[in-house]
Amino acid sequence: MKGSKVFIVFEGGEFTGKTTQIKLLAEKLRAVGREVVVTKEPGGTPQGEKFKEQILSGTLSPKEELKLFLQDRRVHIENVIVPALSDGAIVLSDRFSDSTLAYQHYGRGLSLEFIEHEQHLVGGITVTPHLVLILDMSPQEAFKRAQLRGEEALSIFERENIFFHHRVREGFLQIAQTHPENHVIINAHQSRAAVARSIWETVEEKFIL
Ligand code: TMP
Repeated sequence: MKGSKVFIVFEGGEFTGKTTQIKLLAEKLRAVGREVVVTKEPGGTPQGEKFKEQILSGTLSPKEELKLFLQDRRVHIENVIVPALSDGAIVLSDRFSDSTLAYQHYGRGLSLEFIEHEQHLVGGITVTPHLVLILDMSPQEAFKRAQLRGEEALSIFERENIFFHHRVREGFLQIAQTHPENHVIINAHQSRAAVARSIWETVEEKFIL
């Protein structure tokens, strides 16, 4: 697989350590000589930053919010993901389409049919991740850790009640069960180093680096 396309997505609820683990994996991949592009949703492009600002303003209905996430993804795929994969880089994305299912379907309660319909309207290229790492942690533990770190300004999603976060977690677990071919659940309750080790083992097993 050396030089072939590798698109890895990190998913999970709030405060499950995705950003830290992406950074650690990017460092390791660069150390073995691979070019890596680290990106994120929402807001992985200048246009996407504007979508993100609107989404996080908290003034949108769930349906309006969904449309912006889908538009953000379209721009992100076209302007960042596809070009980077074509250049031979490994792409690591902090969130992708599973977040839409977990948050907008399982969390907000929008139907799968409505999400598919909106996805069809937005159009664009479809890209399937080669590997999705679901960082799984109980919402209680995740929020406790965030509090200990002194995280204060909570976003509109972080401010949702605990039942919302449980639904999102269950959503990610169900998606992983339905698509075992490219999903791996990582126990994020472990230490930072142990999580990084599990991720590295998974990546080494799946790809020839
Ligand atoms: P961030 O905090 O990781 O920057 O992401 C902003 C929020 O957006 C996060 O709480 C998860 C949420 N989100 C969705 O609800 N649906 C989506 O499709 C994506 C990509 C993110």
